[in-house]
This record gives sequence, C-alpha cells and structure tokens, in this order.
Amino acid sequence: MDRNPLFRKKPIALIMKDAAGGEKETHMRRNLSVADLTAFGIAAIVGAGIFSTIGTAASQGGPAVSLLFVFTALACGFSAMAYAEFASSIPISGSAYTYAYASFGELVAWIIGWDLIMEYAVGNIAVAISWSGYFTGLVRGLGIHIPEFLSVDYLSAMRGHAEAVKALAGGQTLDQLSFHLQETYLAWMHAPQIGDFRLIADIPALGIVLFISYMVYRGIREAKITSNLLVLLKLLILMVVIGVGSFYVKPDNWSPFAPNGVGGVLKGIAGVFFAYIGFDAISTTAEECKNPRRDLPRSMIYALVITTVLYVTLSLVITGMVSYKNLAVSDPLAYVFHKNHLEALSGIIALGAVIAMGSVMLVFQVGQPRIWMSMSRDGLLPPRFSKLHKRFRTPGFATIVAATIVAVPALFMNLTEVTDLTSIGTLFAFVLVSGGILIMNPRGKDKGQGGFRIPYFNSRWFLLPVWALVLVVMFVSEHIAFSFASLAEVEWPVWIFIVVAVVLTIAAIVRQWSIIPVIGLLINLFLMSELGVTNWLRFVIWLVIGLVLYFSYGTKKSRLRNMDIQETVKES
Ligand code: ALA
Repeated sequence: MDRNPLFRKKPIALIMKDAAGGEKETHMRRNLSVADLTAFGIAAIVGAGIFSTIGTAASQGGPAVSLLFVFTALACGFSAMAYAEFASSIPISGSAYTYAYASFGELVAWIIGWDLIMEYAVGNIAVAISWSGYFTGLVRGLGIHIPEFLSVDYLSAMRGHAEAVKALAGGQTLDQLSFHLQETYLAWMHAPQIGDFRLIADIPALGIVLFISYMVYRGIREAKITSNLLVLLKLLILMVVIGVGSFYVKPDNWSPFAPNGVGGVLKGIAGVFFAYIGFDAISTTAEECKNPRRDLPRSMIYALVITTVLYVTLSLVITGMVSYKNLAVSDPLAYVFHKNHLEALSGIIALGAVIAMGSVMLVFQVGQPRIWMSMSRDGLLPPRFSKLHKRFRTPGFATIVAATIVAVPALFMNLTEVTDLTSIGTLFAFVLVSGGILIMNPRGKDKGQGGFRIPYFNSRWFLLPVWALVLVVMFVSEHIAFSFASLAEVEWPVWIFIVVAVVLTIAAIVRQWSIIPVIGLLINLFLMSELGVTNWLRFVIWLVIGLVLYFSYGTKKSRLRNMDIQETVKES
C-alpha cells in the first residue's frame, strides 16, 4: 500500500468487488457479444475522421497520407494491446481511468478520467459539428434550406465574414468565393441581432446530440440494436465509395507520392488520429459483455484491423481520383465524386456520413457517463453520477450531464480546435495506458488466467535494433525535425519526447521490460509531440482545471482515502 494517498493504488480485487457490487442499483445487464463489441468499436471509429478531417490531412501530405494511416494504426494497435491486457485483467467499466487507478494510483487516475472528457465529450462536439455540415448539405439536396445563421458556429461565421468582405472588396463576387466563405458570409449578414450581438448557432448539431442522448438514456439494449444496424449500413457505403471510386483513379495523381515530404504528412496527425479514436471505447462496456476477458481484446483488434484496411484503401482511392491539392474541403468524399461528375453518389455519401457520425456519437455518449460512473463509485465525483435509472438501468444523471456539456458547446464551437484537443487528450490517455502496463506487468511475468497478455519480447535484445531502424528511416526520409542541424528549432513538446525516449530506452534495456508497451508509449508520445505548442498549452490548462477540482473535492471524498487501511487490505 502506498503511503502517500495521492499515489495509493486501488487493489484489483477491490475494483472487481465494487463492480460486482452488492448494491443492485449499480448492476448492469450482460448482453454484448464479440460481434456486438466489434460493431460498437467500428461505430465509434468510422465517422468525422474519414468523412471530413481526412481532406485537410491529404491536402498537406498528398497520397502519402495513406502511410500516415498505417503508422497511426500501428500506434493504435500498440495501445489496443495495452487496453486489451488491462481490460482482460480488470473487466470493469471506466476504461483508462480504472486501469490508471490500479497501476498509477489515485492522482493519475483522476487526471486520466478528467482527460478522457476530452476524448469522449469534446470528441463528440467535433463529430456533432461535422454531422451538422453534412446534414445541412443533405437536406439542401432535398430542397430544404436551413438558414446559414442556424447551421454554422459563431466564430466560423465571424472569421468567414471578415475574409469574405476582404475578397469582395478586392473585386471578387460572392459566387466566386468558396462555398464555406459564402455560407459564413450569409450567416453573419442574415443573423438576427440583439444590439451588436448576432444570434448565430449550429442548431442541427444541438439537435443530433439531444436525439442521441435520449436514445442512450433509454438504455443500451435499444442503443445496441440501433448501433449494429447503423454500422452495417455505413460499412456498406464506404465499400461502395471504394469500389466505385477505384474505377476513377488516375495513377498520375499518385505522383509525387509525398509532395511535401515527411513534414507535410505529419501535419495531418490530428485529423488522421481522430479517425481512429474510438476502439478504446469498447472497454467502457466491460460490465455489459457476456465474456469480457475473451471478447474485449478480440473486438478491439478486429475493429482496428477492419478500419485500417478501409482507411488506407480509401485514402489511396480519393488521392487517386483528384489531385491532393483540391482536397482541403469539409466533405472530401462527396467532393471527389462531384469532381468526377458522379452527382448521384455524392448524395449517397452525404447520407452515409450522417449515419456514420450519428453512430460515433452514440458510442461516445454511452461511454462518457460510464467513466463518470466509475469515478463516482470511487468518491471522486458526487454519488449521483453512479446512480442507475430505476427502469432503464442506465446512469441517468450522468447521461444528462454528458448531453448538456456536448450539446451546448456544439452550438458555437469551432471544428479545428475541438479536433486538435480531442486528439491530444486521447493520445495522452494512450501514453498512460501503455505506461500502466509497464508498471503492472513490465516483464510479462503475469500470465493472466485465461485472459489476454501482451506477448513478451525483451527490450534488451530488440529495442536498439528498433531504434536503429527508426533512425535510418528518418534520415532516409529527410524528416528534418530530428536532424542535428535543426535541433535548435525543435519545439518543447518534441524535447519532452526526446528526453522521455532516451530515459525510457535506457530503463527498458537495463530492466528488460516488455518492448510492446515501451514502443506503444513512445509512438503515442511522438504523435503528441508533433501537435504543436498551442495545442499543448490548451491541454495543460485543461489539466490544471482538473487538478483544482480534484484537490477541492476528490481528495476529501475519495473512498479509498477514507477507507481504513486495514479494511482496504482485508477487502482485497
Ligand atoms: N473516430 C471518430 C470519428 O472519426 C471519433 O468520428
């Protein structure tokens, strides 16, 4: 038992006992199979990333963005193994939060629980905003016009209007401006005003969050069936895009393959990584699975493999259909078909996007309250967050709070900022989960009892050859961020990566740690370090707010802290 209460770990036996809980009102139904869980994972993964943020990433990196999809999938694969080992040892709702409580102790557990709000709630704000964009376009195609000031956010309207005014003053006409500029200009001009303030808000984004949250509130049974159907439909639509699109690929568009070098490709990290976020949400359903030890690891890997194949193929198809330079649009998949004069398919794709993003939101709105439920059981959040609804057996209050904190910002927040925040927050969670395995089972000695364990390869023999390979690839590909000549220009997040990489490599070799979690930690930290200083600063501010809350509430109410040490030992 750690003496310092901040680092006191929650014994796994106690975690299990809590979840099995004598209290009826925290007991959930076990009705999810491996197929349901894989569908749940795909439901969470395939959404705004592949339908929207892929466009900007491809316009910066060119066709080589397909390699970034492979690299990012690799990073997620390492994290998935760490999640799988944890999910198999601790088959309890709560995701990385619960794992951190068992491996790092309470303070880090709180940090990760707080950080996961970025992945689940802020991520859903991003998806809701993208959803609204596609939905508005879809109904416009059906002849229904939603006024611009009711379908864009305030900031985009203000910035877009300012840019459009400049362009108009420069002699261009409104028709000559991009669709985005026209839309934001009209939103600003037509919005009702109260004094100087313009009433501009993204109403469809609000509407979809409220609708999804209502379904979640009613219970996972309905959500499960709906989610599985939506997943089948969206996979079908993506396969049609790939199948039809491949006939329109012009191989000339693949040359040059990486027009802006490795640096250009890496600029797309936030968008590409965003496209993979979600496989880890499977672990939040652990208490509703028929056989969590076996099915959680399998479904995570299945979901990741299926989506990686789809993403890589899709990125090659769209960069083959049009020049990468044209892809900086919010609806790249619909756009490439429009460019190839396949108008009918554009509508089908817009419908696919609306469905795909709806099912992403469903998973995240299910996941967020379950993380809070775990935190509340531990006394780090008020008890109401873990109380189940009498009839629906869902965490009703937490579901309503999640709905509110996603729906309200979705009315006025900007897509790029929320995407970046989601990616950095999620990468941080992945770093900590791999780190947690290094604390719990650093040399792969705990073989588990029928559960999943990460295969052990000794860092002493394999880590240096891996580094040698990485360095060769980096120098061959001329990624200057790491060349010695440019070290002075390296931003501090990259320095953090370099320092951690050196220290961890030495420790892993000396202590013969399992190489997979070491690489998992480093590869995710590397992706984080490439996300830029502004993003890091916002992230740090978020964490500081969380710490203030923890020290003013959690430290006083923590159940583990208030338990008599003897009692903790006896219970475990
Ligand atoms: N991966 C999810 C999406 O792309 C978050 O929408």
